[in-house]
Amino acid sequence: MGCRAFDLSRIAGALGAELHGIDLAASLDDGAIAEIRQALLDHLVIFFHDQHLTPEQHLAFGRRFGDLQIHDYVEGMPEHRQILEVRKEEDETGANFGGGWHSDVSYLEEPALGSILYAREVPAIGGDTMFANMYLAYDALSDGMKKLLDGMTAIHSARRAYGLQSNYFREGKRSMKIRRSSNAEREVEHPVVRTHPETGRKALYVNRGFTIRFSDMTEQESAPLLEYLYRHATRPEFTCRFQWHRNAIAFWDNRCVQHYAINDYHGQRRVMHRVTVNGDRPY
Ligand code: SIN
Repeated sequence: MGCRAFDLSRIAGALGAELHGIDLAASLDDGAIAEIRQALLDHLVIFFHDQHLTPEQHLAFGRRFGDLQIHDYVEGMPEHRQILEVRKEEDETGANFGGGWHSDVSYLEEPALGSILYAREVPAIGGDTMFANMYLAYDALSDGMKKLLDGMTAIHSARRAYGLQSNYFREGKRSMKIRRSSNAEREVEHPVVRTHPETGRKALYVNRGFTIRFSDMTEQESAPLLEYLYRHATRPEFTCRFQWHRNAIAFWDNRCVQHYAINDYHGQRRVMHRVTVNGDRPY
């Protein structure tokens, strides 16, 4: 498809493209939104620079791609509960939000389609985000491993991050309001290899953040193969890394991407606004 709404430049061999010359605060017609959606499907994570959106405009852009989510465990902004503020202050030295490879909310029966993260304040240096392409991760497996995994399902849960026993966000000061809850113990089952509902491509769908074990196996039994898959999935050649500037936006497809927020900016503030678009049940 010829691009009419923006210029596009790829940022890495594996995934990721920057879209230039488009103002997301403008009223975009359906054709422009369709082109953005196609760029997302083709490049898995897309980036925009120098965007000036009010919270309402950020939400309105997200709604062009689906219904928006209110996070179960992280309190949204008071006036806009569908905006999750990812905040780390200068004096916070503990774990950061999103600081491990994961696919957003894979512990839900219907995990997120995509996340739209808007940089409000960024550190002078550090605080990049990495992304990994789960189509490539699947494609690179041997035929034998693909055959094994194709029939398998795995259990996902929010308990490590948000369960009553979670230590994840306990240490140090934390400005984000994160709730621990017995609801986070809930388990859902997803295919280990999912088929993307729009592209029809197969993607590896286990992540270190929220996958607990394979179905009908113990955690101990599952651990060696899961560990192999986590490492394999994030091999450098399947990844890209985005260096943030204020007012940049990243929009990633959680159905075929994992991401990792790098926690290398202690002593500096980083404030991001995330709008999360609901997805459907993986198959
Ligand atoms: C997230 O996991 O949504 C946060 C990503 C980031 O802060 O870079």
